[in-house]
Amino acid sequence: MNGTASELLAVRDLTIGFPAPGGLLLAADGIDFDVAVGRTVGLVGESGCGKSVTLRSLLGLVPYPGEVLAGTIHWRGEEMLTASGKRQATLRGTEISMIFQDPTSCLNPVFTVGNQMVETLRKRAGLGRREARTRAMELLDRVGLSAPEKRLAAYPHELSGGMRQRVMIAISIATRPRLLLADEPTTALDVTTQEQILALLKELQAEDGMAILLVSHDLGVISETCDEVVVMYAGRMLEAGYDREVMRSPRHPYTRGLIEAMPSLEVTDEEPPVPIGGQPPDLTALPPGCPFQPRCKFVRDQCAEIPVALDATLAEHGSACPFEGVRS
Ligand SMILES: Nc1ncnc2c1ncn2[C@@H]1O[C@H](COP(=O)(O)OP(=O)(O)OP(=O)(O)O)[C@@H](O)[C@H]1O
Ligand SMILES: [Mg+2]
Repeated sequence: MNGTASELLAVRDLTIGFPAPGGLLLAADGIDFDVAVGRTVGLVGESGCGKSVTLRSLLGLVPYPGEVLAGTIHWRGEEMLTASGKRQATLRGTEISMIFQDPTSCLNPVFTVGNQMVETLRKRAGLGRREARTRAMELLDRVGLSAPEKRLAAYPHELSGGMRQRVMIAISIATRPRLLLADEPTTALDVTTQEQILALLKELQAEDGMAILLVSHDLGVISETCDEVVVMYAGRMLEAGYDREVMRSPRHPYTRGLIEAMPSLEVTDEEPPVPIGGQPPDLTALPPGCPFQPRCKFVRDQCAEIPVALDATLAEHGSACPFEGVRS
């Protein structure tokens, strides 16, 4: 939070709204986090909690009619929210790359993989056609796709889900971005392919210090991959800190719930996973105070009056629940 030289991205008090019947719905409300060089930061939370809109806002891509209502987004010291559309478009796909939540929507079904990669490389990296083709093959090889020439000639539907995701990663790293925004990059994949894709991202990161901001509803994926974790619920941050601390000593009942709901890969004598009861809330009808209170095992009268704010910065392991340590 102190603007060190290794800091790439600094997000403060980010608030994103969508018009809703009777007013505004806040899909993100007071979000704060940093991403430093070579680090992997995870945004985790159940469906609809605001992960994708938060990620998209970093590149000026909040879906219409949503908009950023407040806050600041600094990219290497430069304010992004007031930057021109042209400047944002320049950074997009060069210094900052994004893998979108639905990769199939990003690959055009009527063009071959090669066609799309070559066009992207020509546009973003300014390469000639022949150079772009050579580079596309290098990139496919780099992301672990065998027979790159054959892959270039393939149409997206001729590839498996895992292969398509590797193609997306190849395109996203083509300009050697400093930061990769990855929205649920492994959600549609089987466990083995998921492991391979996460390992690939870590490998690419180790090569040139690329930072990653990873979004997932799966705390297992986040804890396996990330250095720091931001836990979101109903557009709010409920807990944030170093991954190992959050996983070892979760401070917010919601985070505890997510951990208890994680299936264990090994067969152990430990308690079986326990899903969190109830559903994520309707963002147009949030309860006063802590948004998690209707589902919280430890709810008490005061929960309706507490401010939803972390009591410490991410690096210090903050929680928005003031009642820890006094639970029965
Ligand atoms: N295009 C839209 N129009 C209106 N409201 C939207 C739109 N996109 C998102 N929202 C609102 O913003 C909230 C957050 O959406 P977002 O897509 O960021 O959730 P998410 O955490 O990425 O969920 P998921 O895990 O399902 O991808 C939603 O619950 C919804 O209320
Ligand atoms: Mg999403």
